[in-house]
Amino acid sequence: MEHAFGGPWTEDKLRRVDKYLEAYMTIFTRNETASKLGTYYLDAFAGTGRIASAVAEDRVEGSLFEDALEDDDTNYLKEGSAYVALRQENQFDNYVFIDRSREHAASLDRLRHEFPDLADRITIEVADANDFLQKWCRNTNWKSNRAVVFLDPYGMQVDWATIEAIARTKAVDLWLLFPLGQAVNRLLTRKRLPEAAHAERLTRMFGTESWREAFYRTPEKESDALMLFDNEEAVLEKQANFDSIGAFFVKRLKTIFPGVAEKPLPLKNSTNVPLYLLCFAAANPVGAPTAVKIANHILKP
Ligand SMILES: C[S@@+](CC[C@H](N)C(=O)[O-])C[C@H]1O[C@@H](n2cnc3c(N)ncnc32)[C@H](O)[C@@H]1O
Repeated sequence: MEHAFGGPWTEDKLRRVDKYLEAYMTIFTRNETASKLGTYYLDAFAGTGRIASAVAEDRVEGSLFEDALEDDDTNYLKEGSAYVALRQENQFDNYVFIDRSREHAASLDRLRHEFPDLADRITIEVADANDFLQKWCRNTNWKSNRAVVFLDPYGMQVDWATIEAIARTKAVDLWLLFPLGQAVNRLLTRKRLPEAAHAERLTRMFGTESWREAFYRTPEKESDALMLFDNEEAVLEKQANFDSIGAFFVKRLKTIFPGVAEKPLPLKNSTNVPLYLLCFAAANPVGAPTAVKIANHILKP
């Protein structure tokens, strides 16, 4: 089963995560101390393993189909994150794929046949990403294990409590899609604070109420303020933009991780809207400087 989403930015995102996994496993294979540790790749919004990429289809149309099948690059574009992780030359000791969709999990299960040598190392769970991750972070022995976690939700599904659980491990490198234009900016209504359910969702994602002061202000023109005066809560207007929302989230990450990539990569749609920010944070204080250096290089536009 393939599932279709995204555009060229989907491909870009996976290429960059792919590069990180390659660099990570090179270190964990070659470095004597690191090679003694167990390694996990955990994909908590794992999808199906495959994606139907519009870009891939364009390429196939533009060339002979037989040639396209031979062309690694074209095939590569059809691989989802789980597939990208499994086909690393230096393999992880464990692969954990989570998806709340039973159908997607059944598709993921087929990866065991495509990678028979890794079948025993693969765990697939139908679960909510937040529930699973918080338990997994608590119950894994982080003295003897390290992990890369990839969080690739469609929207605002990741709770701050989950990000905190990841930071507390002091052992996980986190790649995360922050839904900047896809969700957050849209919930931040222009002339008033977001409605209660949306405000609550924003607080759950940022782990603080302080987004209110960061993203809203009293209107500069007194007349605008008076116009809205009948509803006290409404005497506020949005001052946030894509840059300030992104900067706020990076600042939040920096409150709990020893290493954070300062400039996450905007993944833009065809009309140049930054749908997501590809963010990176490292929880291990010893490894963080190297991890962030590699991630910064990979995140260059
Ligand atoms: C953007 S897709 C992931 C794509 C995947 N990373 C890839 O490259 O192929 C998001 C996935 O998250 C799953 N999902 C949505 N909400 C979830 C949740 N709360 N917990 C776990 N999985 C969830 C969806 O079923 C979907 O398969």
